[in-house]
Amino acid sequence: MKKEFVVGVTGASGVCYARRLLEVLCKDANVHLIISDVAGQIAAHEGVDLSGFAATYHDIDAIAAGIASGSHRHDGMVIIPCSSKTLAAIASGYADNLITRTADVCLKEQRKCILVTREMPLSTIHLKNMLAAQEAGATIMPACPGFYHRPKTVDDMVDMVVARVLDHLNVEHTLVRRWSGYDA
Ligand SMILES: Cc1cc2nc3c(=O)[nH]c(=O)nc-3n(C[C@H](O)[C@H](O)[C@H](O)COP(=O)(O)O)c2cc1C
Repeated sequence: MKKEFVVGVTGASGVCYARRLLEVLCKDANVHLIISDVAGQIAAHEGVDLSGFAATYHDIDAIAAGIASGSHRHDGMVIIPCSSKTLAAIASGYADNLITRTADVCLKEQRKCILVTREMPLSTIHLKNMLAAQEAGATIMPACPGFYHRPKTVDDMVDMVVARVLDHLNVEHTLVRRWSGYDA
């Protein structure tokens, strides 16, 4: 049976991470996609097109969508990128749109909920919200690529982040070579 995932895209820089994740996930899984209003603006500004994926597109205000209910089972949610505002909403249970409600449901149902945050520097509020979300069951995966794979392009760096997200979703991929020691 096909796996089923929810992808939320919120108003932080780095919509390219969402695009790459969708390219991989939509090949073999059923994907529900929710894009916040500001994420749409930033996607246009950053020149990233999120249309045309084989996904079910949901309106951010469609609060009665199936995925907003705990009775709709799925294999996990990723918010990529995740703004500090959406992080704050999730950390405090303020479920006022389909992204924050679906994340809230993931946490109460103890399902995988990955937040790919992107902000720097981080305030005490950001850090406390990350801790609160993590303690409630979320996985905090800052969009923070490493360099030990010696990336040559921006795409390589994007792949490093998306690969780790896919690992946490238990989705097979070949985006990066796995580390096996220096110069192996
Ligand atoms: C061009 C642009 C870039 C932004 N980048 C970030 C960012 O990297 N991280 C962040 O936390 N907020 C960022 N923001 C602010 C959020 O978009 C803003 O807090 C918004 O209310 C988030 O709403 P959403 O989470 O519902 O999408 C950015 C805003 C703009 C206009």
